[in-house]
Amino acid sequence: MSDNIESHLSENRVFKPSKEFSKNARIKSMAQYKRMHKESIEKPGVFWAREAKELTWQKKWTKPLDWKAPYAKWFVGGKLNVCENCVDRHLTNGRANKAAIIWEGEPGESRNLTYRQLHREVCQFANVLLAQGIKSKDRVLIYMPMVPEAVIAMLACARIGAVHSVVFGGFSAESIVDRLSDCKAKAVVTADGGYRRGGVVPLKANVDEALKKYKAVDTVIVHQRIGDKIPMKRGRDVYWHDEAAKVSAKHEAKAFDSEHPLFILYTSGSTGKPKGILHTSGGYLTSTYSTCKYIFDMQDDDVYWCTADVGWVTGHSYITYGPLANGVTQVMYEGAPNHPDFGRFWDIVEKYSVTIFYTAPTAIRAFIKAGDQFPDSRDLSSLRLLGTVGEPINPEAWMWYHEKIGGGRCPIVDTWWQTETGAIMISPLPGCTPTKPGTATLPFFGVDAAILDETGEECGPNEGGKLVIRKPWPSMLRSIYGDKKRYRDTYWNDYTGMYTAGDGARTDKQGNFWIVGRLDDVLNVSGHRLGTAEVESALVEHKAVAESAVVGRPHEIKGQGVVAFVTVKGNVKTSDALAKELRNHVGKVIGAIAKPDEIHFTPSLPKTRSGKIMRRLLKELVATGGISGNITTLEDYSVIADLQKNLKK
Ligand code: PRX
Repeated sequence: MSDNIESHLSENRVFKPSKEFSKNARIKSMAQYKRMHKESIEKPGVFWAREAKELTWQKKWTKPLDWKAPYAKWFVGGKLNVCENCVDRHLTNGRANKAAIIWEGEPGESRNLTYRQLHREVCQFANVLLAQGIKSKDRVLIYMPMVPEAVIAMLACARIGAVHSVVFGGFSAESIVDRLSDCKAKAVVTADGGYRRGGVVPLKANVDEALKKYKAVDTVIVHQRIGDKIPMKRGRDVYWHDEAAKVSAKHEAKAFDSEHPLFILYTSGSTGKPKGILHTSGGYLTSTYSTCKYIFDMQDDDVYWCTADVGWVTGHSYITYGPLANGVTQVMYEGAPNHPDFGRFWDIVEKYSVTIFYTAPTAIRAFIKAGDQFPDSRDLSSLRLLGTVGEPINPEAWMWYHEKIGGGRCPIVDTWWQTETGAIMISPLPGCTPTKPGTATLPFFGVDAAILDETGEECGPNEGGKLVIRKPWPSMLRSIYGDKKRYRDTYWNDYTGMYTAGDGARTDKQGNFWIVGRLDDVLNVSGHRLGTAEVESALVEHKAVAESAVVGRPHEIKGQGVVAFVTVKGNVKTSDALAKELRNHVGKVIGAIAKPDEIHFTPSLPKTRSGKIMRRLLKELVATGGISGNITTLEDYSVIADLQKNLKK
């Protein structure tokens, strides 16, 4: 395999769950895990049918799986309502008056929604959507702050069979335009704003700007979070509360086919155009339900908190669908982790006695940097289980998380998965799996993960290769919305009948999976997948820019930082002011997370004789300051010397 996916970590610290944790957990021993995993791989239909049966189906399926690679249908012929499973069924199983969502706004206010109250709100909003003419399979774009209404809007769409596409509130107006036009959305649900780091994010204003370019949206429903007077376009924009007052709070959940589309979520790939990952209903819900049950070991008295934004897949699967299908109580927080200071998360853990806490390595690194005084001065003794997601966790960050946040007693589930996989694929089970800092350990039930070399042979222990999933699983993506060819080319082209994740990885002697990172031109910035090509397109769009190449550089907090090399047009003068302008331009086109940390102006970029930019060289140059590999294909050697000089400045 190529040298860029070699891994040099060797980690020998092993942490086993305590006897007490194992005793109360659903999966109590490795023998039990191995038995169930074997069954789930040999007889996936039997295993998954048993899981799916714990949900409410209005019509039972005739066959668990129909697999014609690369297209899967799960629970064929079955009918269910995803929203009914997340909300209604808890009204009759003793959870009606249990808190579903405990919400805290960034300014400090708190709101509690029981399952019964959530049901009322969701039914009412489903009726609002229907009154606005939204029908089954219509696409609804949701662009919201982290408020319960975001979850309510998602559930209401699911309830009436509409397909939601949530766009992260940190994305720009132009990103909304791309997504709106790709999925051809009919309506937008947004808010007048949301609080973030003490300021207001102008969500509605961004929607207004986007809708100047994409005009096929008939309805914009605006949740009033801030309360300031904002422009409302007559005939198009309506307030959520005004419309809710006009409709009933009764709505009966109709059943939809198990393969009915549930949502489209955009994620970055190696080309400039984001991919609309399509997920459907029965299989997705079964996997998210089941992973919450076994991996987070959700129990009825847990208070669970996932710090992700609903705009990412983690928010879809582990705020909205999985936890609510399990009937758990969860905390939802609107704002930034460091507002007013880095103690905010720990205040929330203490205040609501959070028991299960799920966050990202980038947040953990930021907390480490902020100092131990923040967690040390809070009572975190309610915590019993910790999780991470989004990127490999550095062993030292794992240790800090274990000791400082988990008090040395909480198992850590390092969960590997993707927007495409819909649910967690590789992770410890907290009651049985011995964990080592830095590995996501073993495949979940039904997940046939392997590491293959270029020829399709399985790699031996500690040999780096490509991570693949050899069998279909219920929450797998069904396609890239509107682009079956790209779906097949991106995920199913490397090895016949197998899903390629795009990650490099290795296993150790115990079979633990160590994820090394992306193999394609995709950066992982603060756990967000960002295509280098997207950032390059944004830069080239600027009138001063002739050409650009974007690469990642290891970054202490963000995991990877964005470094842009830019060649300007003939008569343009480079300056710090231009660099600043370009950074802001990228922020405007994509969103603040994509702003380059560094911009280097250069008279030319290193290219092959055939004119391809050699990003590999740039990557090495920014990481090490030099070039070690083969540069015989480089067209003009002097470019490298110039760049080196430039970087030293
Ligand atoms: O590279 C892997 C990394 O994040 C990618 C998926 O990104 P996205 O679709 O945005 O979803 C993130 C949340 C599920 C993967 O291809 N990744 C995710 N979790 C881990 C990880 N890398 C290592 N360890 C993880 N636990």
